[in-house]
Amino acid sequence: MKNKLIAANWKMNLDSEQSEQLFEQCAELAKCISPTLVICPPATYLQTGNKRLANSGAFLGAQNVNQNRAGAFTGELSANMLKDCGCKYVIVGHSERRAQFGENDELVAEKVKILLDNHLIPILCIGESETQRHLGLTDSFVTYQIDSALALVDESQIHKLVIAYEPIWAIGTNKTASITHIEQTMSTIVKHLINKYQQNVVDKSIHVLYGGSVSDKNCEAILSLDVVDGCLVGGASLDFNKFEKICRAN
Ligand code: G3P
Repeated sequence: MKNKLIAANWKMNLDSEQSEQLFEQCAELAKCISPTLVICPPATYLQTGNKRLANSGAFLGAQNVNQNRAGAFTGELSANMLKDCGCKYVIVGHSERRAQFGENDELVAEKVKILLDNHLIPILCIGESETQRHLGLTDSFVTYQIDSALALVDESQIHKLVIAYEPIWAIGTNKTASITHIEQTMSTIVKHLINKYQQNVVDKSIHVLYGGSVSDKNCEAILSLDVVDGCLVGGASLDFNKFEKICRAN
């Protein structure tokens, strides 16, 4: 049985005082829960997070990475810079970046590669649109996204990988996917990974999370599913009381 993993994606929220307080609350929480905690703040707070989460058992994550090693890429952050800040995980291919910042499948694959090359753990986001769901294309689309995102790496490089299934229509909408939909789609994802890699790689090295309007109200049911290894939480991770309930569920 894999240890559950709960990741918080703070997106572009909080000021320095609020983030410092939330880091400290999460650091204390991490010491008394069994799930692995990963906190992904805005990049401006990574250094603070590294200090506040130190020795707590919680890990620091970034929300993006540039696909190049270094160079003239104004405004970007490299994998090495994220490692320097103490990051262990990096969110990649989030639907908001795919939609608003033109991140296509090729770019996502390059980002996954540079993360694994630098021994950082990708939190690879996949998920279908409302239209694709209605057309019955969910399974084929999410398995396509897995194959395209992992096209540049081979099994030997997958020391640790997190895949977050986040149906686009459930992100930030309070419209969580049904338990049946989550179980069915994430079972498809796991089966696809087992076909693609050795079973023990999937069992030992890959966590498959659900994301999309996870809350303190629906987390018990979602996390009780065997196929769910944890959650990627957006809005609810900004409210410590709600986030604590999610982390303590099951
Ligand atoms: O990366 C997690 C995020 O996309 C989910 O957001 O607010 O629906 O929990 P939210």
